[in-house]
Amino acid sequence: MSAQPVSAGLVSAAGSGSVAGSKVLHILGPVDQIPFGEGRAFGIDGEQVAVFRLRDGNLRAVSGVCPHKGGPIADGTIDQQVVVCPLHQHAFELQTGCSTTGAKPLRTYIVFADEAGNMVLELG
Ligand code: FES
Repeated sequence: MSAQPVSAGLVSAAGSGSVAGSKVLHILGPVDQIPFGEGRAFGIDGEQVAVFRLRDGNLRAVSGVCPHKGGPIADGTIDQQVVVCPLHQHAFELQTGCSTTGAKPLRTYIVFADEAGNMVLELG
């Protein structure tokens, strides 16, 4: 799935490209494309990002590639706090990316829903 980059501060306006030294916001499409309690993978600027929609509706985003052996993090199972990689069951805190089972951490990203109900991911 492709994402449309826009400059920071211009989330709802059509725009493209990045601004040197500032954050770049990527609109990932409607929040509704992710069922509650599941995740989806997005390819953004050459990075694999896993976005999860928690059962309470909050969003979390972490690296989509498991630091253990490259497992698909978006296919992992989640609760309100952690995602468990489907390959070897290492667990990672969704808020911090830290592993609770001794693996290296996942990178975390800022993600939120805008007024139009689209997911917006910040890459810095
Ligand atoms: S690849 Fe994720 S736990 Fe092994």
